[in-house]
Amino acid sequence: MHAIETRSLTKHFRSTWRRRVVGLDHLNFAVRENEVYGLLGPNGSGKSTTLKLILGLYRPSEGEAEIFGMGVERTASRTRVGYLPENPYFYRYLTGEETVRFFGRLCGMRGRRLEEKVAELLALVGLEAHRHRRLAGYSKGMLQRIGLAQALVHDPRLLLLDEPTAGVDPIGSIEIRDLILKLRGMGKTLLLCSHLLDQVQDVCDRIGILHYGKMILEGDVKDLLARREQFQFICEDLTDPARTKVREAIRASGGRIVSEGNPATTLEQLFLQSVRSADRGKAVASGATRPVDLPTAQP
Ligand SMILES: Nc1ncnc2c1ncn2[C@@H]1O[C@H](COP(=O)(O)OP(=O)(O)OP(=O)(O)O)[C@@H](O)[C@H]1O
Ligand SMILES: [Mg+2]
Repeated sequence: MHAIETRSLTKHFRSTWRRRVVGLDHLNFAVRENEVYGLLGPNGSGKSTTLKLILGLYRPSEGEAEIFGMGVERTASRTRVGYLPENPYFYRYLTGEETVRFFGRLCGMRGRRLEEKVAELLALVGLEAHRHRRLAGYSKGMLQRIGLAQALVHDPRLLLLDEPTAGVDPIGSIEIRDLILKLRGMGKTLLLCSHLLDQVQDVCDRIGILHYGKMILEGDVKDLLARREQFQFICEDLTDPARTKVREAIRASGGRIVSEGNPATTLEQLFLQSVRSADRGKAVASGATRPVDLPTAQP
């Protein structure tokens, strides 16, 4: 049994001029249990529409979808699903702790079980130090983390995350990526949409690319990216004469050098190194991981 399965799932919208807009076009795909599946695609390709159809927030124009073998038209299919929407709406006057508690109550949780869960989730998403601050004073990255905490409150088996790192800086994004891997380690299944391809590459087992509502490429990330016909060495302390010898050895054995040169670091690596070395020089308050996370006065 798959965590998610869709058959010919289709959604048309009517635009203002009564023109038909295709949101999703006969999508067939499946998410296996305990995998991280990344749904990619340009703006407007149908990623959010797919998630909303799976959640029963939209009714399909055609086709069907199942969650753990149960049709999504049945409310019961959603009892073990957590959702982080594209633009989560939160009550800004509630504190972080009150927000997670509020969503827990909506899921029918009460008493000690709820309080323990709220504390556990605030720790999991790294917001313990800010639990008594109102969301009005939260940064975008902190709001995404609260969004993740609310999606996890009822201990779902399946998580649908629409752009979980939208507006989050590279360090926050890496923290969210680690959290996703941790959740998979806890046996959860995750379907996420993202534009950050490097991160998708690090975190997803399989990906699918949507374009104008159709799946144009799908597969195992490692298989899709492997260039089996090529091989690379990255060396240190290689003198000029040694380089010449290596080149000769490669040619003599029938190989062909496609490119050579100094590997460049990525802008992300450079950003992380600079911020981390600046952080190391500062004394940060307890519970805070970065200067940006330091608690400030309540609004
Ligand atoms: N409620 C709606 N009413 C009318 N058209 C819609 C609606 N929701 C989505 N669409 C249309 O369906 C198509 C797919 O939209 P969707 O939001 O699923 O794209 P997306 O892949 O999530 O894009 P993005 O990367 O910008 O979030 C777009 O053409 C969009 O305009
Ligand atoms: Mg979207």
